Amino acid sequence: MNLTDQEFDFLRKMLYEAAGISLTNEKKALVIGRLTRRIESLGIASYGEYFRLIAGRTDPQERQWALDALTTNETFFFREPQHFAFLSEIIVPAVPPGDTFRVWSAASSSGEEAYSIAMLLAERLGQRPWEIIGSDLSTKVLAKASRGQYPMERAEKIPKPYLRAYCLKGTGEQEGTFLIDPTLRKRVRFQQANLMEPLPKLGLFDVIFLRNVLIYFDMPTKRRVVENLLPFMKPDGYFFSGHSESITGLVPGLVQVKPAIYRKP
Ligand SMILES: C[S@@+](CC[C@H](N)C(=O)[O-])C[C@H]1O[C@@H](n2cnc3c(N)ncnc32)[C@H](O)[C@@H]1O
Repeated sequence: MNLTDQEFDFLRKMLYEAAGISLTNEKKALVIGRLTRRIESLGIASYGEYFRLIAGRTDPQERQWALDALTTNETFFFREPQHFAFLSEIIVPAVPPGDTFRVWSAASSSGEEAYSIAMLLAERLGQRPWEIIGSDLSTKVLAKASRGQYPMERAEKIPKPYLRAYCLKGTGEQEGTFLIDPTLRKRVRFQQANLMEPLPKLGLFDVIFLRNVLIYFDMPTKRRVVENLLPFMKPDGYFFSGHSESITGLVPGLVQVKPAIYRKP
């Protein structure tokens, strides 16, 4: 099967409209790699026919399958440790007693970011009220996140005391995996949210993590997504972007306090 430039352009437009993701020409091989087997197994004769199917609303399941396949979900525990240090040393000590401290991992992928935050909050806030919401466009990664079970190699970046306190080592059939402790899991909730669309009513947050997703968006989309999130921030709330995705000056409602750390005045 041959992917024509016209077909690729059609997909590019569809993905941009659905998810805000800008596909570059260099991604063509990646698209072919991710979709070909699926298209063949469905008995569909061309990329064009498949792209028209997922662009329409007649098969929402297939559309979701394709969105899952076309998003990049790379993540790991305690990624960009500067954010966790800032959370622990600057933000958490200033949390007023009695308030529920709320964090949103707004492109959570398979949950490693949300559970890293949860381990830190369990350690630093203990039984005081706190909760975390994780959300993503991809339902495939959200299912993994809700399960909270990971291959043992993924534990590498988790500080040893956290690993001992909050991760359960799998035995028998679960050998080679670990499970996030249920006491932590019950404070972390995952749900689907597309950053390009009106967002679910999730209430106000003390900190929003939006890391390593803006790189897939062009400038107007970046602005739109960040503006979409601003109403969910408490006054004085913090916003973390990935360190490779500066949003300095992007929207008037955020002031930079450190690299990749912003505050709502
Ligand atoms: C590379 S991962 C980043 C995960 C994590 N935040 C981190 O820094 O490790 C990017 C995630 O953004 C999600 N994503 C892409 N476009 C999205 C959109 N329009 N709405 C919600 N999530 C989106 C992808 O599904 C993917 O799981």
